[in-house]
Amino acid sequence: MKDKIKQLAEEINSRILSNREELEKFRIEFLSKKGLIPVLFTLFKDVPPEHRKEIGQMINELKLRAQEIINEAKTALESDQQEEASATDLTRPGLEFQLGARHPISIVKNKIIDIFARIGYTVSEGPEIEDDWHNFSALNFPKDHPARDMQDTFFIEKDPEILLRTHTSSVQVRVMENTRPPIRTISPGRVFRNEAISARSHCIFHQVEGLYVDKGVSFADLKQTLYYFAKELLGENTKIRFRPSFFPFTEPSAEMDVSCNICKGEGCNVCKYTGWLEILGCGMVDPQVLDNCGIDSNTYTGLAFGMGIERVAMMLYQIKDIRLYFENDLRFLKQFGSIV
Ligand code: PHE
Repeated sequence: MKDKIKQLAEEINSRILSNREELEKFRIEFLSKKGLIPVLFTLFKDVPPEHRKEIGQMINELKLRAQEIINEAKTALESDQQEEASATDLTRPGLEFQLGARHPISIVKNKIIDIFARIGYTVSEGPEIEDDWHNFSALNFPKDHPARDMQDTFFIEKDPEILLRTHTSSVQVRVMENTRPPIRTISPGRVFRNEAISARSHCIFHQVEGLYVDKGVSFADLKQTLYYFAKELLGENTKIRFRPSFFPFTEPSAEMDVSCNICKGEGCNVCKYTGWLEILGCGMVDPQVLDNCGIDSNTYTGLAFGMGIERVAMMLYQIKDIRLYFENDLRFLKQFGSIV
């Protein structure tokens, strides 16, 4: 019996427990119910009484020693694990930091604002949800006038009429109602029209509209202002031309074309071989509109113009499909210069 105990003691001291499986195997082999050490206790009943004390003590010591080995191995394994977790490699390259880029609509909007700021235009903003007065009536769109159909309005409420603004001319009505001339302001913003979505039109787009009201503002001012704008935006050699048009709130009204800066006027598929691209609507503010907003049309005159930012950006960057602006595909958005 004594030899058996000594042999087991040697055995447990020589075991190397380097992982959790080995540790568990050790526990089962020596300490579980049918393990080698508890078995010694069952053999104990055959030990003659005079050796019981000594042998009993040896078995107890053996059991304690086995327990101790298990505890030591456990602590060692745990601290190994902790060390592994904190072993950060400080020389590894960091994760790549993705820089954002401005949306092409914002880039072009800011360009347009900059150009007009240089000749004294401030920026005005207003609500996207409008009433009938600011979007239509004040601007000379009589009720049931077919000109309202041009605008394909999204109505929110019928009575009284509340709608999503179809142009930012509504902001200019608010400015004219609340400030006295001289007024020189542009209103950039989002507008909404119930149009089928295609490569050339969308139900949401952005405009910049401009307004200049003072004594003696003339059509010559309108032409010169827009000529300056076109040259600043598209280059010194840009040519412009005006075609007569109609808007309820301007008289006379015109549409302005710029010479195609892609083919330099020779004809290409962007300008449909005409050498010209239409970029904005404009005109002299109808005297009735000034009066509607409490500005005396006998004393003051005004010029106004409005353009779609998407269209200007399509021209500048040769973007062929308006839907790209709203899809948020990073491969598209990243092409327009980073914010830094
Ligand atoms: N409000 C017009 C539109 O949305 C543009 C415009 C503004 C035309 C000012 C003339 C003068 O189409």
